[in-house]
Amino acid sequence: MTKYFLHSTSSAKTEFPKELLIWNYWDHEHIVGTHFEHYKKVNIIYEDDKVCFSERWAKLPFVPFYLKTTDFCIMTNENQMDVHHYAFFNLIYCKQKFNFEEYAPNKCKVTKHDYIQVPKFMKFLQPLFNKIMQKWFINVWEEDMPMRIRRLRVWKLGFRDFHGIDYINNPKLNKSIDKNRNYTVKLPIPKITHIKNKSYEKTFLRIINKSKHIGYGLLDL
Ligand SMILES: [Fe+2]
Repeated sequence: MTKYFLHSTSSAKTEFPKELLIWNYWDHEHIVGTHFEHYKKVNIIYEDDKVCFSERWAKLPFVPFYLKTTDFCIMTNENQMDVHHYAFFNLIYCKQKFNFEEYAPNKCKVTKHDYIQVPKFMKFLQPLFNKIMQKWFINVWEEDMPMRIRRLRVWKLGFRDFHGIDYINNPKLNKSIDKNRNYTVKLPIPKITHIKNKSYEKTFLRIINKSKHIGYGLLDL
């Protein structure tokens, strides 16, 4: 049977540096937190500075149960991330391509291309697929926004992962804001909220299932 790809493209401009957006899209830890309405479990099987091989238990539009997907993320180059998703005994195959374009200093445009492989007779679903994926992009974008804003805000205050902010840790120091601090990301992103066991794998479980505001409030810094 001839295979055919439905496709969809979504894009948006941001006021965030490119590497902050790469941090956001590469991070698997927040999937069961920020996107708890869509995901209940993520398992990272292997990850390094270029690839991440994982499994996700996702609630997709129009699918009435959680679908386990096998996912392979690749930083193809410094401006592009590709993700391959397989589900349902590999009968479902989707590919996503994320392009990160710094259109001005510290301002990045994100373009997402979605493809799903279907038998050719199903190509009539193209408009529906396009509509669903564009809506998904906007929904996920809005869910991620508070986290991005908070990250950039604390970054300018000197925040470092697992260290915090110097003037908060030490009240004798004066508050300082460096609006020009260059945002950098180093993959893989360090993590702490996975289930602690002897496995090399890192498993993250959803612990919030009611309010998206739990744990995401912005302190008055
Ligand atoms: Fe996200």
